[in-house]
Amino acid sequence: MWYAVISVLAACALCVDGQLQESVKCPSPGLTLNGTVVAPRSGISADFSALSEVKFSARLPSPLPKNGVASMASSSEDGSSRICKIKCVAGQWVGPLCQEGNGDGRFQPILKSCVIEEFSPNLILSFKNRIITELNTTILHNDTISARCQEPIGTYKLSGPSMINCNNGIWTSPIPKCHPTTLFTNYSENSPPTILVRVPSGSAAVDHGGELVVFPGSILHLECLYLRRHGDPEWTWTSEADTYLTGWAIGNDERNWKYRLSIYYVKNFDTGTYTCTTSRGINNSISLRVSDIHCKPIPSMDLSPHLNYRASGHRLGQTTYFNCPPGFLLKGSANITCLPSGEWSNSPPKCIMVKCPAINVDDSRLIMVEYNDTYGKRAVFKCAWGFQMSGENSIQCLADSTWSHQIPTCTEILCPPPVVPLNGFLIEDSAPERHVVGSVVQFSCGVKHQMIGKPSTMCTENGTWSHSPPYCKARCEYPGEPPNGRIIPLKFWYGPGDKLKITCLAGYVLPLPTEASPPVCLNDGTWSHPLPECIPYTNV
Ligand SMILES: *[C@@H]1O[C@H](CO)[C@@H](O)[C@H](O)[C@H]1NC(C)=O
Ligand SMILES: *[C@@H]1O[C@H](CO)[C@@H](O)[C@H](O)[C@H]1NC(C)=O
Ligand SMILES: *[C@@H]1O[C@H](CO)[C@@H](O)[C@H](O)[C@H]1NC(C)=O
Ligand SMILES: *[C@@H]1O[C@H](CO)[C@@H](O)[C@H](O)[C@H]1NC(C)=O
Ligand SMILES: *[C@@H]1O[C@H](CO)[C@@H](O)[C@H](O)[C@H]1NC(C)=O
Ligand SMILES: *[C@@H]1O[C@H](CO)[C@@H](O)[C@H](O)[C@H]1NC(C)=O
Ligand SMILES: *[C@@H]1O[C@H](CO)[C@@H](O)[C@H](O)[C@H]1NC(C)=O
Ligand SMILES: *[C@@H]1O[C@H](CO)[C@@H](O)[C@H](O)[C@H]1NC(C)=O
Repeated sequence: MWYAVISVLAACALCVDGQLQESVKCPSPGLTLNGTVVAPRSGISADFSALSEVKFSARLPSPLPKNGVASMASSSEDGSSRICKIKCVAGQWVGPLCQEGNGDGRFQPILKSCVIEEFSPNLILSFKNRIITELNTTILHNDTISARCQEPIGTYKLSGPSMINCNNGIWTSPIPKCHPTTLFTNYSENSPPTILVRVPSGSAAVDHGGELVVFPGSILHLECLYLRRHGDPEWTWTSEADTYLTGWAIGNDERNWKYRLSIYYVKNFDTGTYTCTTSRGINNSISLRVSDIHCKPIPSMDLSPHLNYRASGHRLGQTTYFNCPPGFLLKGSANITCLPSGEWSNSPPKCIMVKCPAINVDDSRLIMVEYNDTYGKRAVFKCAWGFQMSGENSIQCLADSTWSHQIPTCTEILCPPPVVPLNGFLIEDSAPERHVVGSVVQFSCGVKHQMIGKPSTMCTENGTWSHSPPYCKARCEYPGEPPNGRIIPLKFWYGPGDKLKITCLAGYVLPLPTEASPPVCLNDGTWSHPLPECIPYTNV
């Protein structure tokens, strides 16, 4: 697909020799917009027969999809709109030719782009220092991509050139491959040797192109991994130095497989390529560049308040570590390294004050009496009168931005249904269905019963009644004055078991004792039998 917006159907490929025949007219170029044939805009003649050239704007495909690269694309690399044209030559449309991106007026044929159709293992391709991560990424004609192997450097060998150019749809050389070295092949004699880099003093870092950039004055050991019993490897270099210390490592655990080249106090003239060639003639190389690179000193940077850091320096390869005090969250990278580009690998992080999710109480039963949603602070709750809490009344904001406990809930306090005393009844119940706090009930006792205890009780905040229910005690009424006699004792009320003694007035007597036993007050509040009557003496 050549154009995202407009394409021309009638491009002519056969008549490039350009035999210009004015007399032969071209057919309508059949403009399509996004793949659909469109009618020419009003104002443009629909008759193309009189035209010898059609100009249009076209959008060339973007060299890289925005999300296909490691970092954000800069706007200049986006698919840009250009002016293109086709020409009527000998009755056929030729082209298109497009103006250069900068609009310098020269029309040139569009040459084909290249597409990255596969990723080979351990190979990293990049375009303008940005790593290509998406398949089918388009690279425009005359653009160059660079190839290197995955880090650590020296563990894979790149077979082929590290720069590949797109020339009218074809790469100038095949995309190279990364071959595993002895570290991955059980020290096979047929693999290129692994080269490990050690920097016991000073600093170094790998740049975008896979080159090792070393700070001047560093000490560097390049270790070529090869089994000693297979023979001695050989170190060669392109730097200007005459000699380097080379030889098998001395330590017992390394002397049979590490053939070392040491560079003490690296200087500018140590820049070059270092190659280890095995006794089999198979080699692997590392490119080294000495550069006095400094990143911006951390203290001179605009750091977020509260941010603490620990830095050994701001030279190439040096790392600064950050942290935030308790109650703050570190947002960003906790460590940054000074890159060969002279930039820190990331901007310094920020310390964000820890806050817990805001609490909005929309329940009238729950009342917030204290609230601060920052780290270490509390939200304290209570329940409205008549409600009781389930959960913690005080919750704390923790370092991970969460509350220590859930927000409590309030439930209505209810008292159990009141116990109605035996032989008694309720005369008033202010909330017969739900005995909420403050509900009052009043009791009464049935006739022939006397109340012992409080006649009313109230539901308290503890969910219990303020008083235990009263007791209805049976009682017998004063039976009245017997004719011609008196009763002893004389009371308004008599308790169960109380006996009445009757004395007759002078001249009167009670019937025979068998017929006139004293009445007893029974448990149901009645007398065992009626009062006996005093009868005149004369009648006995
Ligand atoms: C053409 O297609 C592109 C991408 O799909 C879209 O953004 C644009 O709006 C389309 N233009 C028209 C005129 O339909
Ligand atoms: C790449 O393009 C090929 C051919 O156009 C297509 O089959 C394939 O699905 C594409 N792959 C991706 C990842 O877009
Ligand atoms: C190819 O690119 C180089 C620079 O990258 C430029 O000097 C040269 O003119 C370009 N050639 C063409 C044919 O565009
Ligand atoms: C590695 O090579 C040694 C001999 O060179 C052999 O004894 C050993 O089995 C090999 N290990 C593997 C995992 O191939
Ligand atoms: C490494 O090996 C390749 C292929 O055998 C050879 O072309 C190249 O010259 C060697 N490089 C060095 C620095 O010896
Ligand atoms: C540096 O920070 C990254 C996350 O940003 C982490 O994965 C890595 O372990 C840290 N390295 C060191 C040495 O602390
Ligand atoms: C919460 O506590 C922090 C730390 O003590 C204080 O700075 C902030 O002003 C408090 N916020 C409120 C709303 O009281
Ligand atoms: C609730 O119970 C507590 C302890 O059990 C007691 O101290 C308090 O007086 C009671 N309150 C009421 C209103 O009964």
